[in-house]
Amino acid sequence: MTVTTCVFDAYGTLFDVAAAAREAAAEPGRAAFAAVWQKLAADWRSKQLQYTWLRAIADAHTDFWTVTQDGLDWALEANGLTDPDLRERLLALYWQLSAYPEVPAMLGALKAAGLNTAILSNGSPDMLQGAVKSAGITDMLDDVLSVESVGVYKPHHSVYALVEKRFSCKPGQVLFVSSNGWDAAAAAGYGFQTAWANRAAEPIDRLPWKPDHILSDLTPIPALAAAS
Ligand code: LAC
Repeated sequence: MTVTTCVFDAYGTLFDVAAAAREAAAEPGRAAFAAVWQKLAADWRSKQLQYTWLRAIADAHTDFWTVTQDGLDWALEANGLTDPDLRERLLALYWQLSAYPEVPAMLGALKAAGLNTAILSNGSPDMLQGAVKSAGITDMLDDVLSVESVGVYKPHHSVYALVEKRFSCKPGQVLFVSSNGWDAAAAAGYGFQTAWANRAAEPIDRLPWKPDHILSDLTPIPALAAAS
């Protein structure tokens, strides 16, 4: 089925989730943090995602900003970091994550080809607006869809269903792109055409569904959409 609509996960897919910790580690006076920033970033992301899944299963939704802070607090304690100023700095940087380098040209090519473009993310609307604005990609997106409008996290089907409602399309006309293997897999199970941007060269998730395409970054997306 011809793709009319390209939809992107946000964190890790368009926006570099490790950028906050990497940038804070490079600042003066953060030698202790610089030694462990990569572990902290991985722990933070891992706990943030675990808390979304657990809250979805337990019917205990709270917004992604709260979950992001909870994940960071766990990761700081696990890595023996107690500096409150570091916590505040990492959280501030999370609102202005950089986009991956290929993102602006890739989105520009999709818009030039007449496709709908959107974000579909766990992020709360204000977090997503902050990241989109700071990455300078506002004009290349038709919409920014947040799970907050359904009150449950991915991979609940009610989240993926937001796309059809917004763009009046069928699931098979959507190319959904995520760097999270579980998200790309679940979206394939939902019925979207899917691409997994496997930036970290990870093994494929052992789930009942598989993405249609596996990429190392987002550069091939306009060609994939055109060939659908
Ligand atoms: C998101 C997370 C899963 O943006 O990366 O939805």
